[in-house]
Amino acid sequence: MPPLVTLEKHGNLGVVALNNPPVNALSHELRRTLCALLAEAFADASIDAIVIWCEGRTFIAGADIREFGKAPLAPDVPEVVELIDRAPKPVIAALHGTALGGGLELALACHYRIAVASARLGFPEVTLGLLPGAGGTQRLPRLIGVSAALDLIVNGTLVSAAKAHALGLIDAVIEEPLKEHAQAFGARVLLERRPLRRVSELVAQLDAPEQLEAYRSSIAQKHRGFLAPFHCIEAVRAAVELPFEAGLQRERELFVELMASPESKAQRHAFFAEREVAKLPGLAAETATRALRSVVVVGCGKRARALGACFAGAVPAVTLLAGTQQELDNTVAALGVSSAASVLDGANAGEGRAGMTCTLDARLLSEADLIVEASAGDVAAQRSALARFDAASRPGAILVSTLPYSDIDTIASCTGRPADVVGIHVYRGGAARIVEIMRARDTSPEVSATLMQLVKSLGKVPALVRGPVGSRMFTEYLREALFLLEEGAVPQQVDRVLHDFGFQLGPFAESDREGLDIEWNHRKARFDSLDPRARACTLLEQICEQGRFGLQAGAGFYRYDADGNPIPDPDLEALLVLHSKDRGVVRRTIPDHEILERCLFALINEGARVLEERVAARPLDIDMIWIHGYAFPVYRGGPMFYADQLGLAGVRDAMLEYAAQTRAEHRTPAPLVERLALGAKGFYAAP
Ligand code: 3HC
Repeated sequence: MPPLVTLEKHGNLGVVALNNPPVNALSHELRRTLCALLAEAFADASIDAIVIWCEGRTFIAGADIREFGKAPLAPDVPEVVELIDRAPKPVIAALHGTALGGGLELALACHYRIAVASARLGFPEVTLGLLPGAGGTQRLPRLIGVSAALDLIVNGTLVSAAKAHALGLIDAVIEEPLKEHAQAFGARVLLERRPLRRVSELVAQLDAPEQLEAYRSSIAQKHRGFLAPFHCIEAVRAAVELPFEAGLQRERELFVELMASPESKAQRHAFFAEREVAKLPGLAAETATRALRSVVVVGCGKRARALGACFAGAVPAVTLLAGTQQELDNTVAALGVSSAASVLDGANAGEGRAGMTCTLDARLLSEADLIVEASAGDVAAQRSALARFDAASRPGAILVSTLPYSDIDTIASCTGRPADVVGIHVYRGGAARIVEIMRARDTSPEVSATLMQLVKSLGKVPALVRGPVGSRMFTEYLREALFLLEEGAVPQQVDRVLHDFGFQLGPFAESDREGLDIEWNHRKARFDSLDPRARACTLLEQICEQGRFGLQAGAGFYRYDADGNPIPDPDLEALLVLHSKDRGVVRRTIPDHEILERCLFALINEGARVLEERVAARPLDIDMIWIHGYAFPVYRGGPMFYADQLGLAGVRDAMLEYAAQTRAEHRTPAPLVERLALGAKGFYAAP
């Protein structure tokens, strides 16, 4: 293994190079070696200035997150940073790749900072539920002003080298190769006898006395539920109100508080889960993939358009296959895509959005590498569509089903090549970062790997599962919410409770947005398998039968104004009262904590079943699907992580109590919940 840090002499310049792949994180061993070599360079009379740069793809991307939560080992990051600040000779940070968090803090302690044009700089600590804890909150406002510093620290946004230069965060944007130009810059600093410019000696001032309070109010809604953004503001307050040393101490106190907070633990869990989810055990990283040059999405509806738009960024040719001339005309008009009378003949008509075309020419199926069925509304229609694609397409083409609730094995079995069949489910019309890839029993590893790669190339997170996960859990969550309506709650109360928990939308507003027909169709398809209480809770069909299909229809669980804002609807409340009466249920006032627990425990319980049936391989797959697909609050880590924090014994006991109280036998804890609770374990590990 090459050394983590080296010191080379080039004339009177000392060049310190860090080499800790993949991202040069400030691990303990690196910090120890760096301090030792810096001390050596400070003491060496033949070295007049020092350049710090990194080997590999990036400058330091921050503290080593894997060390968080463990006993800190000296020297810690703040010690390294302050050592550089006090250096007796100029130290220059030469940046490339991403200079982040503790890496940027180290650079801020240097006396000069230069970067290549492609470098990006920032403080992403807030996304881990933290704040820059090695002087970043004290130095940045001193260097670039309070307003710009708040923006960077509180939002975690990265800036380009050019923007950093404009802000005064770096001294120059330099040419590549970095090492040579950094040395030339160092030589210039010496030649021009430039002073030691210590950011810690500058003063940070507010633009107006009420600036911090105004900023706090301005972010209150956006950062609702998070702790770190508000601690960041307090740390910046220390930079303007306290001397530098006292400010550092205040920053440390706030950092330590955040590090121990459940919010940060959950956000750090999400950081690693997001990277882990794409590495599935059982699917080797080196699995071959198939080339995807052309995709045909069959259909022109909402689902088809969303999928087409997603793929258009990554695949050279994406075509929506319309069923009728009317569909073709509507799609061309709505999306601004080009129409193609016959794509095979190259007869494209007009310029459209890059990479996407719409056609009526079904012969295109024979040329496609990937065919996506996005028009059929039920399993039978999907099956016959995939059988048709099987016959029409060339060997090796991948056939994709997109029904959110479909049994992918049943669909794959209608083709002569189940190894080429896979399902996908995008959330929020393709806007969500997660994509569920559902492999069937016989889907080949190559096909799974191809889809995983495609999703990654879209900048999204792929979760490889054996059947529907997110939608299946949502059904159980909504079912419990409907029982609550039957027992006495109203949609706005249930939604408020889940919104206060941290969801953007509660289950009813969420269902209205997606369209109630989806859940209704699913309910109809599996009606015979429902338990008696679920069958008798006919609220969904009563609402849909009135044409209240949700936001698009102007009404669902709510009424919607012209701007799409939900308004509680007395007509719906009257329907609920009547339904409860018909069912012989005496409506009662349901406390908020009961609403919260029953909805969340229904979700967690179904997640446990999904794990037990191996539909999802790991709890982290479920957490990622819920954080990204349904905006489950990331500062709670996802439903399975959250359940572990609550303790599964408590979850089990509460479920049993609610089941007895509401005579809801269906709400018995899943066997996995029982087993883990008995063993005092969690979904992730023994606590
Ligand atoms: N510590 C430890 N490991 C890290 C790390 C870090 N700071 N940053 C990234 N890694 C690991 C990832 O977990 C991943 O590991 P894996 O290969 O085993 O899955 C590997 O490095 C590569 O990371 P990515 O897959 O994310 O690679 P990308 O090229 O897509 O992105 C990146 C690179 C932009 C640097 C991205 O990894 C990133 O944003 N990292 C986090 C940066 C960060 O949050 N820094 C602040 C840390 S907190 C801090 O510094 C506290 C200080 O104020 C005291």
